[in-house]
Amino acid sequence: MKALVLAGGSGTRLRPITYTSAKQLLPVANKPVLFYGLEAIRDTGITDVGIVVGDTVAEIEHAVGDGSAFGLDVTYIRQNAPLGLAHAVLIAREYLGDDDFLMYLGDNFVLGGITALTEQFRRERPAAQIMLTRVPNARAFGVAELDAEGARVVGLEEKPEHPKSDLALVGVYLFTPAIHDAVAVLKPSWRNELEITEAIQWLIDTGREVSSTTISGYWKDTGNVEDMLEVNRLVLEGLERRGTVDDSSELIGRVVVEEGAQVTGSRIVGPAIIGRGARVTGSYIGPFTSIAEDCVIADSEIEYSIVLRGASVRGVRRIEASLIGHEAEVTPAPRVPKAHRLVLGDHSKVQISS
Ligand code: DAU
Repeated sequence: MKALVLAGGSGTRLRPITYTSAKQLLPVANKPVLFYGLEAIRDTGITDVGIVVGDTVAEIEHAVGDGSAFGLDVTYIRQNAPLGLAHAVLIAREYLGDDDFLMYLGDNFVLGGITALTEQFRRERPAAQIMLTRVPNARAFGVAELDAEGARVVGLEEKPEHPKSDLALVGVYLFTPAIHDAVAVLKPSWRNELEITEAIQWLIDTGREVSSTTISGYWKDTGNVEDMLEVNRLVLEGLERRGTVDDSSELIGRVVVEEGAQVTGSRIVGPAIIGRGARVTGSYIGPFTSIAEDCVIADSEIEYSIVLRGASVRGVRRIEASLIGHEAEVTPAPRVPKAHRLVLGDHSKVQISS
């Protein structure tokens, strides 16, 4: 069995952060979302992984390499444009051969892994096995309709205007090679993509078995930073305390101070993580905060936030519920005039407390 990981696409929902970096590499508790997926795949016993990449190929290759760091053997498959999830299957045809495969969307996060599901698929080998989860905003997803007993999948719709249920498709699918017949007959959808939901619907319509499992503990970006902060919170809660700081600092609860981070004269209330090479001085870092590598937090207070690599926050009290991009700088404005001074990238969002 192989895995096909989709790490192409454009990442419009987390702009402006994704203008400059692949959305699959956005960190959760200082680790790219994609890495959690690769680890979950490794835990199923699969080692051959094809990663579909687009414009951000260099960044993904730099982060994942040949996969050996994960115990995987990775092959990169170039997709020239994000023409849909089923298009990714189409271009991976040669790589996948006649093997069963697990398809994993690289920007999805499944708490609790996918091992049990993969084992079930190996035992039962339906043509396709999908995962579902209840969501409040089904219009942002592929949506499944089950029969009256809630056992069989009878219909699937991609981002429907009027969803027939609140059961969204999670970005983890298991397929036998039957999916290749389905993908081969697809036509582009209204959003000009080859839709995997339509391919699975074709399997249902031609009498193949499509099974589903409903899970909880799932995340995917649906356009807001709140979702990202929330998954960051969940993962931080599972960390074990690690690392040390000088005597002038205080750590409370689950705090990870990664190697090479310097924390002086500060108070950090966990769960929180401070990345390699970061410097935290005279500051308060509150719960559910991830400070990535090489950041500087000086004379500031920050909580329930994610700060990406190389950003600095100096002399600012207090920041909360924020996502601060790579190399961004946050400083106080001069006392006079009493005005905000902003250099914001396209599609930035700022809330000012005055
Ligand atoms: O996340 C679950 C949802 O994923 C499902 O509920 C939907 O049925 C499914 O269509 C998909 O919806 P999205 O529109 O949100 O997918 P997105 O464009 O975000 O792409 C998912 C991942 O696949 C992402 O890591 C980018 C990658 N991708 C996407 C496309 C369209 C590719 O590698 N190539 C592509 O052509």
